[in-house]
Amino acid sequence: MSAAQTLLLFGVTGDLSRRMLLPSLFGLHADGLLPEGLMIVGTARHDIGDDGLRDEARKAIAPLVAERKLDAAVLESFITRLSYVAADASDPSSFAALGKALEDRIEGGIAIFLSTAPSLFGSTIAGLEQAGLAGPKTRLALEKPLGQDLASSREINDAVARVFPEQRTFRIDHYLGKETVQNLLALRFGNLMFEPLWNAQGIDHVQITVSETVGLEGRTGYFDGMGSLRDMVQNHMLQLLALVAMEAPAQFSADAVRDEKVKVLRSLRPLDAAKESVIGQYAAGAIAGQPVPGYIDELGKPSDTETFVALKAHVDNWRWKGVPFYLRTGKRLPARQSEIVIQFRAVPHSMFNGRGASLKQNRLVLGIQPEENIRLAIMAKQPGLDRQGIRLREVDMDIRDANAFADVRRRIAYERLLIDLIEGESTLFVRRDEVEAQWQWIDAIRAGWNEAGMRPKNYGAGTWGPAAAIALTERDGVSWYD
Ligand code: BG6
Repeated sequence: MSAAQTLLLFGVTGDLSRRMLLPSLFGLHADGLLPEGLMIVGTARHDIGDDGLRDEARKAIAPLVAERKLDAAVLESFITRLSYVAADASDPSSFAALGKALEDRIEGGIAIFLSTAPSLFGSTIAGLEQAGLAGPKTRLALEKPLGQDLASSREINDAVARVFPEQRTFRIDHYLGKETVQNLLALRFGNLMFEPLWNAQGIDHVQITVSETVGLEGRTGYFDGMGSLRDMVQNHMLQLLALVAMEAPAQFSADAVRDEKVKVLRSLRPLDAAKESVIGQYAAGAIAGQPVPGYIDELGKPSDTETFVALKAHVDNWRWKGVPFYLRTGKRLPARQSEIVIQFRAVPHSMFNGRGASLKQNRLVLGIQPEENIRLAIMAKQPGLDRQGIRLREVDMDIRDANAFADVRRRIAYERLLIDLIEGESTLFVRRDEVEAQWQWIDAIRAGWNEAGMRPKNYGAGTWGPAAAIALTERDGVSWYD
């Protein structure tokens, strides 16, 4: 696929566009990474005109210009790429003006980005079709949530597939645009030293934590209808798990990588919901010393939606036989901290026992947020003379991306994804079979919760979730890594 000459952004006046998409596109522009003639056309229901969009963009981008100490001319040269055409995504007949405005751009390729509610995907696609904007030179990117369960996700995927074949469909999971997530592939498959141990013989268990301090952030309707399992685990966390667990792809190419991920997703053992999952909902508490209300108060009505989930998952294949993958995510936890912890097994025999040295198992921690880093905990001799022999201590080999690559600017995950979309590179986008395998596993967990009559347990905002989440790992002699 050649690079698109036009990027068409639906929902350009929305939150995602303001916070992520426009700043990301500007970042790419400022670094000279956007194709020279790329035009960015924004669309939404109200007719704000070119000037309206340009003003919005200036506001959204100004902090970046200041932070990077860029010349105002760089911002203005970006602004000239922007134009606006109104279209009502719920009304396909309103797409005529869009079709007319983009008529001459079709041949050069159009990348279309839908950051609108999924309920509008069907009518948007019909509108694009009617306006002649769904031909072979167009590609379509979709933001989550792609459904609420397998059935609704299939409906969306079917509606898309009727018009856009899989090679031209780009499903976004913004975690795949994060640097450390891609670094996981570099670490596993660009080094010899990890892979021989990367299996049930070498690894005791894996932990994946994505913790947030934020609460609802005003997304009451959306979040209350989803809950943490569907909002975070179904997509971001299962993608992380798949990247940790997959076999080595033969190439870094869209199908090779996604073929391996989907095998893992299909090997996930159905959970015993009552024994292997814990759900929680935050009550009032404090984050960083500041009091915050409970979920119900924030929402303004009673609800059984989970804001925390911890799971013990298994990948049923040769490589991972008997290795638990503990996952946990939640809102209003004590810290914004996302990391993958690989806990290696103990050495088969310790010659240091009885000499004041207790050996700790090696641990590899991939920090995703707030900082990107890689830490490898190893045992080393404590310097000095010791009458009892030698003393060992756990030390961290710590590679902070910020130090190792001090000269490289940290990018927003969407910069990677937008440039890949424009260039038609789909390795970091989620294929239909992956999304559906993810939903299948998640739906079974929710069915298990219903069957077992499970309701979320309270936890105070600013704590690490309900006590049962601690018990979930402690029962196996494992502690969550904080
Ligand atoms: C989104 C979820 O997909 O990811 C949000 O809908 C969540 O609820 C967000 O806050 C977390 O993303 P990040 O990049 O801040 O970890």
